[in-house]
Amino acid sequence: MNDAAKRVERLRRELNEHNYRYYVENSPVVSDREFDDMMHELEALEREHPELDDELSPTHRVGSDLGKGFLQAGHIYPMLSLGNTYSPEEVEQWLDRTRKAIPGEAPDVVGELKFDGTGISLIYEQGRLVRAVTRGDGSRGDVVTDNVKTIRSIPLQLRGGGWPDFFEIRGEIVMPWKEFERLNAEREFNEEPLFANPRNAAAGTLKLLNPAEVARRGLDAYFYYMLGEDLPHATHYDNMQAARAWGFKVSDHMVRLRSEADVDAYISRMDAERRQLPVATDGLVFKVDSLRQQLNLGFTAKSPRWAIAYKFAAERARTRLLSVSFDVGRMGTVTPVANLEPVQLSGTVVRRASMHNEDIMRQLDVHEGDMLYVEKGGEIIPKIVDVDVDARRPGAAPVRFVSHCPACGTPLVRVEGEAAWVCPDKWGCVPQITGRVEHFVGRRMMNIDGIGAETVSALFASGLVRGIADLYDLSVDSLMSLDGIARKGAVRIVDGVRASCDVPFERVVYALSIPYVGETTAKKVARAAGNIDRLMAMSEAELTAIEDVGPRIAAGIVEYFSVPANRETVERLRAAGVCMAVPEADTAETSDSLGGKSFVISGVFEHHSRDEYKELIERNGGRNVGSISKKTDYVLAGANMGPAKLEKAQKLGIPVIGEDEFLAMIE
Ligand code: IVH
Repeated sequence: MNDAAKRVERLRRELNEHNYRYYVENSPVVSDREFDDMMHELEALEREHPELDDELSPTHRVGSDLGKGFLQAGHIYPMLSLGNTYSPEEVEQWLDRTRKAIPGEAPDVVGELKFDGTGISLIYEQGRLVRAVTRGDGSRGDVVTDNVKTIRSIPLQLRGGGWPDFFEIRGEIVMPWKEFERLNAEREFNEEPLFANPRNAAAGTLKLLNPAEVARRGLDAYFYYMLGEDLPHATHYDNMQAARAWGFKVSDHMVRLRSEADVDAYISRMDAERRQLPVATDGLVFKVDSLRQQLNLGFTAKSPRWAIAYKFAAERARTRLLSVSFDVGRMGTVTPVANLEPVQLSGTVVRRASMHNEDIMRQLDVHEGDMLYVEKGGEIIPKIVDVDVDARRPGAAPVRFVSHCPACGTPLVRVEGEAAWVCPDKWGCVPQITGRVEHFVGRRMMNIDGIGAETVSALFASGLVRGIADLYDLSVDSLMSLDGIARKGAVRIVDGVRASCDVPFERVVYALSIPYVGETTAKKVARAAGNIDRLMAMSEAELTAIEDVGPRIAAGIVEYFSVPANRETVERLRAAGVCMAVPEADTAETSDSLGGKSFVISGVFEHHSRDEYKELIERNGGRNVGSISKKTDYVLAGANMGPAKLEKAQKLGIPVIGEDEFLAMIE
């Protein structure tokens, strides 16, 4: 083999290994940069030597949907969609057609909710969940078993008895409204892109590579379709009741309907009741109840003839655009917001609605004074979904996105690959400065009581506070010089500032407004660095070695600490007594009970999260390694350790221990 061929082979082997470690093991051992460099070298070699091409080369994954971290599996029965309609008349026509297709029998129909989430197929063997696969392209999907196992309402081991040895059950993974709103509020706060609706949030969450994060997001699942050779009953309805008894969540709103009148009544009743449901639904599904009749009716190429979906019309309101403002966030992101003639929409009065960013604004093609459609499909912030072009006033000018910062006049810049325009004047642009101070004092950051947006503005205008460090120089007297602040309020603020010195280091890191560093990232970064001096000194490569820190975040951190004004702020905060290291107790609680032994963690745990186990291993003198090899000393296995790993561990004779055993080792 010549040199090029050897090099190509080696690069492919290493890239495959790194891919595996990154996507499957979730524990990369090289930085993204190193990985990219290797990939580029391989691409160049393959270009120069077309004879060495191989369709399974890692270069062929780039840009495809595959390889985003999940293995794929084929569906035993294809996952089809449903024919749908928006009119009750068409539901009746479907019912008529169905009756004619099975003459002499009056088919019972089951009415149920159409859950607005993401479809999932679960396989159970001997009552145990063995695989969870997304819909994918209908014939193959991603294997997301680890993530699905974090959903508490999905039974891992079925209850009761009477289930077939092998069967499939399909349902919808949903994010309940409450969780959706919590997640979006958190994302808005961190200036991360919001999820447009619970469906996107559920689908996005299910594809996360970190099951611990999936677990945190509170997904839920409802089941509506059982498949298999030896199902317990001859009707859909009875099978679903059996599924409920085995521990699946099956909607209470599933009912048997015997007549057209029943169907109509069900539609009107559910259109009202769905507003009270804890999860998003976008309609109803009607299914022929008898499995034998279903078999007779069969499928078209795309959907079953034995079922139809009736979709609810989304709730929207039409109102006039008064003006468009451009809000500037603490990170400089400029968001277009429509100011509207107040309008009533599902229970609240809407005055402002987001147009998200320039791309979306351009798609909408909003003109001055336009009549707009506002939708609240459940989003916390209503959004503009359409324009009534016919009602446009003649000669109305299109609304343009601003080219300069509406607050400070600086030309805006657009970060490559992102939809947002940003004002780059971090130090002169008032809403950015005051936004960072507001963030700093917030409840989940330094939690300084008594300072709201108005006080921050007043403090800024008076010149008392020009940056977060100035808060620590405030005195009761200086505060009382401001309009509207009495002694009591001033004392409260000064006390609050003093108390903030006890806030743990990870929250301080979050409070600093480092680009892309949200609450979770701050925690990980703070714990990994241990103290501010180390954090300030870390390179991008060192930072990307921290779990969940990608190149963008790493670059944001390095850039932040390269700015002298930020370093000066840190020094002033330190001098004021703000906590700049993880607490002593955390580092003191160490032992050497694991004596340098190496561990591989796999599966989902009950007593601690994976991250916590990793930390426990390190604190007790052990080492975490990404994948099982001859050198691994132990495998710490949770509930659903992958069968391939288990096999490998057994083959190499590596002890597989459970949580309790592990905890006993470090006791
Ligand atoms: S039955 C062969 N029932 O809607 C038909 N689907 O538009 C199997 N969905 O892919 C699907 N609620 O993800 C069925 N009660 C329900 C449903 C439901 C939501 C989803 C499902 C399906 C899509 C079709």
